[in-house]
Amino acid sequence: MAVDLLLGLQWGDEGKGKIVDYLTKNYNIIARFQGGPNAGHTLEFDGIKHVLHTIPSGIFHKEAVNVVGNGVVIDPVIFQKELNALAKFNLDFKETLLISRKAHIILPTHRLLDAASETSKGKAKIGSTLKGIGPTYMDKTGRNGIRIGDLEFDNWKEKYRQLANKHQALIEFYNVDVQYNLKELEHEFFEAIESIKSLQFIDSEEYLHQAQIDNKTILAEGAQGSLLDIDFGTYPFVTSSNTTAAGACTGLGIAPNKIKNVFGIFKAYTTRVGSGPFPTELFDEDGARMAKVGNEFGATTGRPRRCGWLDLVALKYAVQVNGVTELMMMKGDVLSGFKTLKVCVAYKYKGEEIQHLPYNIEAENLEPVYKEFKGWKEDISKHSDFDSLPQTLKDYIKFIEDELHVPIKIVSVGPDRKETILR
Ligand code: IMP
Repeated sequence: MAVDLLLGLQWGDEGKGKIVDYLTKNYNIIARFQGGPNAGHTLEFDGIKHVLHTIPSGIFHKEAVNVVGNGVVIDPVIFQKELNALAKFNLDFKETLLISRKAHIILPTHRLLDAASETSKGKAKIGSTLKGIGPTYMDKTGRNGIRIGDLEFDNWKEKYRQLANKHQALIEFYNVDVQYNLKELEHEFFEAIESIKSLQFIDSEEYLHQAQIDNKTILAEGAQGSLLDIDFGTYPFVTSSNTTAAGACTGLGIAPNKIKNVFGIFKAYTTRVGSGPFPTELFDEDGARMAKVGNEFGATTGRPRRCGWLDLVALKYAVQVNGVTELMMMKGDVLSGFKTLKVCVAYKYKGEEIQHLPYNIEAENLEPVYKEFKGWKEDISKHSDFDSLPQTLKDYIKFIEDELHVPIKIVSVGPDRKETILR
């Protein structure tokens, strides 16, 4: 059976968690392929709001198996907290939550290194979530990392000590003020490790290969967004993994020719958390309104998200890099009540109008070219069929589809599982 893929097309926080949860009924397996607890996937159903960081968003469906793939980096302490927060749902993790032996472990000193690196950068900081993501992927590619599978061998603590000592020397080298008590951090780390050892560790590429032979349906779940991709994002203001479609192949061991549908999720406007270029960012009342109505605060860090109009140039780029076959538009309800909406259809760059993301995408070099749309007044969150939506919203959607040459199959009109219009 082919594998479907779901990923974010902007700077993250598009609402992937909600859609994975919504689609899980169609899949036997949900497999997360990259990132770590820098992600915050928010799900709402039956009056409950739940945020997941590392655990795949299919976890609430008892029949689905959730796989944390080799491309993911795991902080045992955060993972343990996620498991504790799920305790009240009576889920049987032993059977439904499987972890790849090849996934790398975030050590306490990775988090400290993240903080030291960011502090040393001053104003040029990335705006990292400080979860140790960058340093852990650096140790992975530097071939120094510790993997989940290492926990099955007795000597892993020697490896740990060597690496932690090296990290401490590096932290000193940064010569910035990072306060820490390693003994305390290690205590909770080792405790959390013992607890996650009760879960099943698997060779996930083999498991997923066999699942395909057995005709199981698989949805690969991405984290962050395409514009935060280490290669194709707004470097260096990106995360440290491949968030785009190719990341699902390397992060799960799935062959490219086995991928069928690529679901691309985007918000009806744009947000970004952390530093870095954002051409359509708004500093006026419109931006403040999006932030307020959309409750735009980071699910992991609580930081306010920067808000702006939909950037079709950036979205087109993401559709192209990922080979998106179906689009899902989120948070259309947040735009209700705006008299006029704007969509960026080109950039003015060095005196010319361009329709691609230039290498140097600094805000001062770019001026967005906007097309204006009439807004709609009514609250759309109670609509359940597409035809009943206001004509001005349908015009907005049609324009996006025509520009991107990909159909919008889901329109989300509120955070709850039920507030979802399937076309
Ligand atoms: P890091 O991956 O935590 O190092 O953060 C690098 C950049 O990616 C920062 O600008 C973060 O704000 C951003 N980022 C990381 N994870 C997410 C996410 O899940 N949603 C939105 N932005 C994220």
